[in-house]
This record gives sequence, structure tokens and C-alpha cells, in this order.
Amino acid sequence: MSDTRANRKFRSQEWFDNPNNPGMTALYLERYQNQAFTRDELQGERPVIGIAQTGSDLAPCNKIHVFLVDRVKAGIRDAGGVPMEFPVHPIQETGKRPTAALDRNLAYLSLVEVLHGYPIDGVVLTTGCDKTTPAMLMGAATVDLPAIALNGGPMLDGWWRGKRAGSGTVVWESRRLLAEGQIDYDEFISRVCASAPSLGHCNTMGTASTMNAMAEALGMSLTGNSAIPAPFRERMEMAYATGRRIVEMVHEDLKPSDILTRDAFENAIVTNSAIGGSTNAPPHLQAVARHAGVALDVKDWETVGFEVPLIVNMQPAGSYLGESFFRAGGVPAVMGELMKAGRIRPGAMTATGRTMGENLEGRESLDREVITTCAAPLREKAGFLVLSGNLFDSALMKTSVISEDFQRRFLSEPGAEGVLEARAVVFEGPEDYHDRINDPALGIDARTILFIRGVGCVGYPGSAEVVNMQPPDAVIRAGINHLPTVGDGRQSGTSESPSILNASPEAVVGGGLAYLQTGDRVRLDLGARRLDALVDEAEWQARKQAWQAPEITHQTPWQEIYRTHVGQLADGGCLELATAYHRVARDLPRD
Ligand code: FES
Ligand code: MG
Repeated sequence: MSDTRANRKFRSQEWFDNPNNPGMTALYLERYQNQAFTRDELQGERPVIGIAQTGSDLAPCNKIHVFLVDRVKAGIRDAGGVPMEFPVHPIQETGKRPTAALDRNLAYLSLVEVLHGYPIDGVVLTTGCDKTTPAMLMGAATVDLPAIALNGGPMLDGWWRGKRAGSGTVVWESRRLLAEGQIDYDEFISRVCASAPSLGHCNTMGTASTMNAMAEALGMSLTGNSAIPAPFRERMEMAYATGRRIVEMVHEDLKPSDILTRDAFENAIVTNSAIGGSTNAPPHLQAVARHAGVALDVKDWETVGFEVPLIVNMQPAGSYLGESFFRAGGVPAVMGELMKAGRIRPGAMTATGRTMGENLEGRESLDREVITTCAAPLREKAGFLVLSGNLFDSALMKTSVISEDFQRRFLSEPGAEGVLEARAVVFEGPEDYHDRINDPALGIDARTILFIRGVGCVGYPGSAEVVNMQPPDAVIRAGINHLPTVGDGRQSGTSESPSILNASPEAVVGGGLAYLQTGDRVRLDLGARRLDALVDEAEWQARKQAWQAPEITHQTPWQEIYRTHVGQLADGGCLELATAYHRVARDLPRD
């Protein structure tokens, strides 16, 4: 029998049409045929398109994909492909303990294994809830099969007594009102639940909307994909168009490695500043870049992104929610405005088969109240600052959420603008924080910086969203809503706190935060991009010598595997060994 491999068009035909191995071919065929695929479909020259299904009852933020997938399949079929849906390990931000962040790398790993080991020629990545988007993009980057992201879309806007109630952001507001005694427990629950009126992911510019904006800014989705609310007709149309497009991408052999270039990442960083995006974007994009083999450093977030203005008026940095953002033109309008200001790299290739510049032609804000222009921004220089010092090599600060009150109170002392010397109070994780924050013996006042440690990738494990610590109730009642906070964990993308977070290396691996003690003086100098403990050098070295790594207890096998291989947030919190694998689809697995 002659070897027909050289003539084969698609990878899936190695499974379904291999005369050199009739035994295996028959086994592959009979099991896929018995679920109603015909031999004609499987052996014909039709690409098999995987649909990575992230929605389920356990993953409500992505549940809409369970319904959208019919439209995706219709699009794939109409374009001549064969759709095959498969499940992704659920990653529900608000459901998974100890944190969904622990599972991003697990979903990534399993996606790589599925895409490599099954007869798949291209894949639709269903995205939505925070970690689902980076997990899918990371997997696609490692495998390098043609891939396109489809967001499920944000929920409809939430309302509470005539005011917009945004996902997550309403929690941070309401817990202050609860602390002040202005609302009770039942009203607290009602306010928070009012923010979730429909299927979809968070309706604020939290991590979910941010990461989907990042997927679009990277060029990994169709133009306009990210902002369409989940229940809208346009969302179904986008699902159908995405299904059609992935089949063409397979024919064109347009792969993540053609799209995920340095230019694409710079477009994403710039877009993140303009939308007031989440502090979770840097670790997730660092991870995607590393799996794609693109050089990106945490400092690039400041050098590329800091100067960019905030032009989107959406919670937590602004007022509006997802419906308004969509009607104002969504991400293409934001990027169109950025392009007019010369801030976009227009030559970057995208999933549409055209360049970003071509996709953005004529796109601009349709509602200046929600998306303004770079000439009249909501805030100048709205990107992240990347700090260093003797407490960490790098940590991020989101400047777009620094309120005037916070700025006046903490960052503008006479003669020393942006410099704050204060007393440190240190917590060992969120349980310790909750137990002690209201203890008057800690002496927390307006001249205190709150620190939390042991909440990074290894410490927590997975890195917890806990750095936006609320001040003690008594301090809030005195009118101070935010104290400066610092930690080796993260915070929710829906938080309006200007925390200093993602500190790397984390305390449990011996980062400088480990040696800080309550009562130490610390100096924050934003101009110099530094935060330092003002501890005598000999004393600091003595603490370092005396330090012993805390004992760590794993609760599951994955926690142990994760902790053994995970890197730091500044490097994307990747499984370090996985970053050596690139374009694994080039090598077929054994038959
Ligand atoms: Fe899932 Fe916000 S909790 S998107
Ligand atoms: Mg979160």
C-alpha cells in the first residue's frame, strides 16, 4: 500500500485516513462514526475543528457557551469543517477554592494534551471568566494549531435602586457600608446579587472583560468579539462568524505564532492602560508571551503602557458597565482612538487574516461619554507603575484607580510629592488579616501601610486576590476608605484600590517581604518607583540569616505538582518546565 501522507492536507487525516495503519484507522473511525460522524466527513478533505468548552454548571460565568456552541458548530459546518466539542477543566473565579488561579495552569496543561493528542486541525477557544481566557491562549500558544478566541460576553448591567451595580466593584463598596453600619447583612447580599442579572461574565472592566479585551488586542479573536453582552443577538452572530472563520484559518494555516508577536503584546499593553484594565493582565500576558516564545518583561508594562491615557469610563476606574461599553463601540473603538493617536502597531497580523490596522479602519468612539479620545482623556498616564526595592524585585501599581482623596492623603506631602513614609503592619495571609484587622493594639491609623504575605503562587497556593485590604472599621468611620496596601498576592480586577501587588519574588521563597516586621518604617517613593523597608542593613541581613522557610502543607496532588513547578507572578506564574515547549503540534504523537 502506498504512503499517501505526503498528499494529506490535514493533521486529522493521520488518524482517520491512514492506509499504512488500517487497524488503528478503523478503530478511530468506528468510534467517531458511532456518534453520528460519517466516514465521508471524517475521511474527506474537511478540517476537524475542536471547540474547547469552558462552560458548565460549575462554571456559570462561561455557561452561555453551552448555548452559543450550536452557532459555532453551524458556522464550522457551513464553512466545510467538522466540529468536535470537548470539555475544559472548569475554572470558576467565584467557585473554586483555594483560588481559581491554581487551576489556570491545570486547564492549560490539559488543553495542550487534548490538542496534541486528538485529531484536531484547528480550535475555537471559548473564553469568559478571568482565568479561562489566559488558560486557552497559553495552550494555543504552546500547541500552535490555528486557534481563535470566542468570548461568552459580559452580563447585562446590574442595577440597585436606580444606580449601576457592577460585578465585584459593588462588593468593595458595600463592604465599606457594612463596616460603617450603614447597611445590614441582608442588604449587603441583595446589593451584591443585583450586580448579576443574566448569564455572562463580570460586567465591570474586571479581569474577565480585561482579558477578553487582551485577546482581541492581541489579534486572537474577530474584531469586536470581546464586548458584546452575553444575551445579545450580536453575540450569537459572533459565535457563528467565529465558527466560519476558524475553518478558513486552517485552510490558510494561520497560527498563533503568526499572530502572537512582540507587536501584538505591545498593542495589548497599550489597550490595557486605555481601558483601565486589571492588574491580573500582566501575569496572564506574561504567561501567554512565554508560551509563545515572545520576549516580554514585567517592566514593559511601564515602559510601553504607563504613558497611555485612560479613555474608557467603566467601573472600577469609571462609572459605566458592559452594555454602555459595547454600545460605545467596545475594543475596536478604543483601539481605533489609540491608533489615531499613533499608539497602535498597525502591522500586527490577526485572526481575521488582516492586520490590526486594517481591522480598525474607521473604528472610533460612538459615545464620547463612555469612550473618550486620547486628546481629551479621563486621566493622563494611566498605565501601571513597576516598583522595586528591598522588599521585592518587582511589584505593580495600577494608577488609573488612584482617587484624588488617596493622592492628597498619601502621595503629596509638602515638598516631597509622591513620597510617603509610614509604619508597616504585616499580616500572614487573609485569615490573619480578618482575625486581627480590627485589633486596636495594631495602632493602624492614616499613617500606616498594610502588608500581606504568604499569598503568592507558592504560598497560597495559586496566588490569592487579597491585597486590597480594607482598613479597620474605626478608620473607615473616620472617613479613610483606603490605606496603601502591599502584598505578594493579587487583587480582583474589579477592585478600585491602588494596591502595590504581585510582589515578586514572594515571601515564602525568600523574597524581601519575608523579613518585614510590624512596626518597621517603610518609604514609598513613586517618583523613584521604589518601596523600601527603612531597616538598618546589618539588622536586615541578620533577619535574612535567621529566616526559615515556612512549612507548606499540600491538600491535593495538584497543589504539590503546582508548587514544585510554578514560577513567580512577574514571570507569569507559569509551570516553568512548560515554557520550554513550543509549537508542539509540529510533532505528531505516536499512533
Ligand atoms: Fe467569572 Fe468575574 S467571576 S467573570
Ligand atoms: Mg478575581
